[in-house]
Amino acid sequence: MSIKYESQKIAQNFYTFAVLLFLVQVVVGVIAAAQFIWPDFFILNFNTIRTLHINALVVWLLVGMMGATYYVVSEESESELWNLPLAKFQFWATVVAVTAVVLGYIWMGINPQANTLVFGTRLLNEGREYIEAPRWADILIVVSVLLFLLNCFMTMFKAKKWTGIQGTLLAGLTFLALMYLPGMFYTKSMVKDQFWWWWVVHLWVEGAWEIIAGALLAFMLMKLVGARREVVEKWMYIEVGLVMFTGILGTGHHYYWIGTPGYWLWVGGIFSSLEPIPLLVMVWDAFKTTRETRNVTNKAGLYYTVAHAIFNFVGAGLMGVIHTLPQVNKWTHGTQITTAHGHLAFYGAYVLLVLAMIYVTLPAIRGVKEFNASRAFQSFWWMTISMVFIVLTIMGAGMVQTYMERLMGLDYVAVKSVYNLWFWIFRAIFGVGFLYGVWMLVVDYFKLGKETTTA
Ligand code: HEM
Ligand code: HEM
Ligand SMILES: [Fe+2]
Repeated sequence: MSIKYESQKIAQNFYTFAVLLFLVQVVVGVIAAAQFIWPDFFILNFNTIRTLHINALVVWLLVGMMGATYYVVSEESESELWNLPLAKFQFWATVVAVTAVVLGYIWMGINPQANTLVFGTRLLNEGREYIEAPRWADILIVVSVLLFLLNCFMTMFKAKKWTGIQGTLLAGLTFLALMYLPGMFYTKSMVKDQFWWWWVVHLWVEGAWEIIAGALLAFMLMKLVGARREVVEKWMYIEVGLVMFTGILGTGHHYYWIGTPGYWLWVGGIFSSLEPIPLLVMVWDAFKTTRETRNVTNKAGLYYTVAHAIFNFVGAGLMGVIHTLPQVNKWTHGTQITTAHGHLAFYGAYVLLVLAMIYVTLPAIRGVKEFNASRAFQSFWWMTISMVFIVLTIMGAGMVQTYMERLMGLDYVAVKSVYNLWFWIFRAIFGVGFLYGVWMLVVDYFKLGKETTTA
């Protein structure tokens, strides 16, 4: 395996930054877990740690997707990227902006007063969960994403080669970029603010990102087992069509209790209940397409790809649908059950997606034919088993919380003080197991193709 176009190497810059941020995300995740047991653990308090944890998550996934997209667009257009120096500039600009934002969060954690008002916006943290970056950073992010999209589209136009896969991928990314904008405006009404904020959060993970996942899945299946383009593209169109049909109005499952009109109970309940269908189709597609293949060289790539399809369905689809009806959600809303779903969904749908793309494309970038996949498998199992147990543990905590808060009517803080500490102890222990898996993954990432293979 080797790459056909020099500019595909740019993907590696993005991957490196992504896996390092992944490590940071999980280190702070473990610190956050420890703070549930010892609230004063660590110099930065829980607010700051939590912000770092979830923002790092979102950013590294986006960075990973960008790298993967540069690779795919070049491959599918059968040409070099339109402007490689621009891509490099865009990469470094992203690194600088992200680092500045992270330092800002840390600075604010040490000195909360530093988050002053500048031109009516906050200097260091805008305060919207998952997308807390301040306005100046929003603007840099928008510029970076526009340069990225320009480069991809120009590559495609200049090569005059349009494929369904790259068209869908770029459509998903354009949708993603547009959906960043509703998160940038302030309104005085908390209801309206939440209304728009969910456009970003929900329409990303259950809209744009799933479209990207569908396109990348098709690409990976083609690369891994030599599946026919017509076949994978046919599946892709079905998946993407169903994602949009169910996911867009599915946004309603966040509008049950925030002050929006009552019809959202119906709209959200009905459409979001259908959301697991496209995810199930993806699992079916992955199995059907890979079943008959025997001698796959890239076993790690195949493994991560199929695991992504399965855990996307389990974490997002199944664990999402169980609390999506208003009749259920009125009990579970905003509890640790939500957090459990958030973890398995992000892990299955997007962490494994980006890691799968890394394992599918990195060997070619490094020019290796075969590599020892044992570390990739081990890290997969450490991460996956630990994650499943983290999720089971906080599901348990969530049930206790639901019971005490919603049935017994205790308030949030009272419940927090009487929780069984073992939930948090187990979560922290499995968190360390997960961290070990990530560490292995990072080591494997840096060593892949650079050591002599024994297998
Ligand atoms: C595709 C990947 C998905 C990801 C990454 C994801 C992630 C998340 C996260 C992080 C939250 C918590 C948001 C917050 O309040 O901070 C959440 C909430 C929620 N998700 Fe998902 N989700 C996905 C798919 C789904 C699907 C397919 C469904 C339904 C079928 C679903 C149903 C819900 C519901 C009902 C809530 C609100 C829970 C509450 O009221 O507290 N999710 N999701
Ligand atoms: C790839 C792995 C991970 C992903 C995708 C992930 C994702 C997330 C998300 C989306 C949230 C916000 C959830 C919500 O508000 O509903 C969150 C919060 C949190 N995560 Fe993670 N996380 C990961 C790994 C870890 C690990 C290994 C630990 C350590 C045990 C951890 C500990 C925490 C804690 C303590 C919170 C705060 C929960 C709360 O506010 O109650 N995470 N994580
Ligand atoms: Fe949602």
